[in-house]
Amino acid sequence: MNRNFHAAPFDDATKVKLRLYRLYLREWLPVFLARKTPFRQVVNIFDFFSGPGRDSTGEPGSPLIAVQEVFKHRGLILSGGFKVRLYLNELDKAKFQQLSETLSSEKSNSHLEIVFSNRDFQEAFELWHPLMDEAANLLFLDQQGIKQVTDSVFRRVATTPVTDFLFFIASSFFLRFWDHESFRNYIKIPREEIHKVKPSGIHRVVVDYYRSLAPEKTPYYLAQFSIKKGSNFYGLVFGSGHSLGIEKFLITAWNLDKERGEANFDIDDDRITPGQGHLFPEMARPKKTRGFEADLRSRIGSGDLATNHQIFRHTLSKGFLPRHAREIIAKLMREGKVSRRRFPVSREAMKREPVTVSLLRTDVSSGESDERLNSH
Ligand SMILES: C[S@@+](CC[C@H](N)C(=O)[O-])C[C@H]1O[C@@H](n2cnc3c(N)ncnc32)[C@H](O)[C@@H]1O
Repeated sequence: MNRNFHAAPFDDATKVKLRLYRLYLREWLPVFLARKTPFRQVVNIFDFFSGPGRDSTGEPGSPLIAVQEVFKHRGLILSGGFKVRLYLNELDKAKFQQLSETLSSEKSNSHLEIVFSNRDFQEAFELWHPLMDEAANLLFLDQQGIKQVTDSVFRRVATTPVTDFLFFIASSFFLRFWDHESFRNYIKIPREEIHKVKPSGIHRVVVDYYRSLAPEKTPYYLAQFSIKKGSNFYGLVFGSGHSLGIEKFLITAWNLDKERGEANFDIDDDRITPGQGHLFPEMARPKKTRGFEADLRSRIGSGDLATNHQIFRHTLSKGFLPRHAREIIAKLMREGKVSRRRFPVSREAMKREPVTVSLLRTDVSSGESDERLNSH
C-alpha cells in the first residue's frame, strides 16, 4: 500500500479494507438514524486520511463510500431532523484538489454536510476533536504505515463518548523495522512479543498492545481484522465503548471471514476445505473456534462466568458472536452438564435480569485441553 496507490486500481487487500468500512457503516448508521427516540441528533463521520475519493478506475474510495451509504438513509435523516456530517481530511495537495472536485456535486445536499480539510492529520485531529462532544461519531483512520495513530491519539479516541473507530495499521512494519532506532520511537511493543508469533499473527500482537492502552474503568472492546497482501500483513483495529458497536463490527467481520471472523486468509493455518469430510470431525473446526469453546467451558466450570450477561460480554470481547456462545451452551445442556432451561445469550436478554448458569457438574470441559488453543 504505497504512497501513490490511487494512481492504480485498488488491490485486493485495499478492497477488503474498504469493504469492511462500507459494511460497518451500513451497520452503524441505522443505530443512530433508525431509532424511535433519537439518541444523538448530530451524527459525524470523520475520515482523516481521505485520499482523492476514487482509484484510477473510478472505484469508490472511503469518501464516496460514506456518501453512498449515508444517501441510503436520506429519508430518515430529513424526517428525523438529523444533522449528518462527513469530515474529510487529506494532506496531499493534488489529492485534496481531486477530492474536492470528485465530491463537488455532493456539497449542496440537504441530508449530508461535507467538511473538507487539507491538513496534517495531527492538526486536523486537534481541530475536529471538540466537535465529537454531544454527537455520535465514527472515525476512519486509514493511515499509511503505523505512525499517525499514536498512543495518545488512541487513548483520546477511546475515551471519547459515543465514538467508534476503525483504523488501519501496517502491522508487518513491526517485524521489518524493529531494529531501526528511529522506528522504535513509535514502537512500544517488546521485541520478544513481536517474535513470539508467526508473521501471520503479528496483527494480533499489535492489537493486544492497543488493548493494554484501552480504558480500564469502563468496558472497552477492541476487535481486529488481519489483511494479507503478498508476504505482508496489515490490519484493521476496531474500537468501541459499547457492546452494540463491537457486535456490529463482529457481524461484519464474520460475514467476510466465515471460519474465524478475523482475516482475509487462513490465519491459523487450519487448512479447512468447506464441505470436505474429515477423519476427526473436531479437526474440521477452526482452532480459534475450538479454543473459544475450551475457554468458555473452563470459565463456566470455574464460576468465572456465572451469568448470561457475563457470557455475552465475554463472547464479544473474544471476537465471537452471541450465536457461537449459544451453540456451546446448547451442547453443555445436551451433555447434561448444565441444566436445561431458558438461558438466552443475546442483546435482548441484556435488557432483562441476568440468568445464572445452573451447573449440574463442575467438570464441564471436553477434550479441549490444548493450552495453545486458548491463546486467542
Ligand atoms: C491509504 S491512503 C487513504 C485511502 C483512502 N481511505 C481511500 O479509500 O482512498 C492514505 C492517505 O493519507 C494521506 N496522508 C498521508 N500522510 C498524511 C498525514 N500526515 N495527514 C493527512 N493525510 C495524510 C495520503 O496522501 C493518502 O492519500
